Parts: sequence; C-alpha cells; structure tokens
Amino acid sequence: MFTIIKTVHVLCAIISISGFLYRGYLKLTQPAALSKKWLKISPHIIDTILLASGLVMLFQLQYYPNQYNWMAIKLIMVVVYILLGIVTLRFARNKTQTFAAFIAALLCYTYIILIATNKSAWPFA
Ligand code: HEM
Repeated sequence: MFTIIKTVHVLCAIISISGFLYRGYLKLTQPAALSKKWLKISPHIIDTILLASGLVMLFQLQYYPNQYNWMAIKLIMVVVYILLGIVTLRFARNKTQTFAAFIAALLCYTYIILIATNKSAWPFA
C-alpha cells in the first residue's frame, strides 16, 4: 500500500510541475489561453492528491516536522513554491516580474525534490 501511495505522490509531483511549466509558458507567450476551464481546475485536483498522499506518508513514517527539520523545511518550501506560483500566474504585472517569479518557483521546486530524495535540507538541516 505504501508503495502505491508513494508512486501516486511522485506521479502527482511530476504532473504538477509539468502543468506549472505549461501555464508559466502560456502566461509569458499567450496569457489569454490561461482562462481555459481545465487549466484552472486540474491543478487543484493534482495538488490536493499530492498534499493528501504526502500527509498520509508523513503520518505512516512519522516524519513529524517538529522532529525532522528537513521535513519542516520541505513543507515551508512547498508553501513558498505555491506563493511564487500564484505571483507568476496571477499577480505579476509584466513579463519581467512573471519570468522572475517563474524561475524562483522552479528553483524552489528543484530544492523540494532534493530535500525529498536526500532527506536533508542542506545547508539548513
Ligand atoms: C511540491 C510538492 C512536493 C514535491 C515535489 C514532493 C516530492 C517528493 C518526492 C520526489 C518524493 C520521493 C522521494 C524519494 O524517496 O526518493 C517524496 C516523498 C515524500 N513526500 Fe513529498 N513532495 C511534495 C509535497 C509533499 C508534502 C506537502 C508532504 C507532506 C505533507 C510530503 C511528504 C512526503 C513524504 C512523507 C515522503 C516519503 C519519504 C520516504 O519515502 O521516506 N511531500 N516527495
């Protein structure tokens, strides 16, 4: 069962970043296309499954953020990634702001993957 949940989690992580790359690209090249309904709804579904599967594993493995600093930092970085995503797709006022927030979100995402795979939030924990 754990293997299934972990596979779902990793698959959702891949779908989530692929969707974000696509929407970021659209925002920079043809922002009007972002108003399509499926582009607005599907990320919420994927991200909810990503969060739920992560929470289930967190409790199963007892990786409580107050005991495992890398998990605490991973969760903080997930929040930062979500906020940078909102800035990229909604609040950025011009292409420079969109691009800067987009790159920052992608760097953040890369760091989350490194934390998840190494179980270490170097250089912080
Ligand atoms: C952008 C969001 C996220 C990404 C990209 C992500 C990515 C990953 C990846 C790639 C793994 C597999 C690591 C490996 O074993 O090699 C993983 C495992 C895990 N993730 Fe996430 N994750 C995200 C969000 C979350 C959240 C929100 C939680 C908790 C609420 C969470 C909890 C976990 C746990 C407990 C594991 C299992 C680690 C293990 O097998 O020992 N993740 N995550």
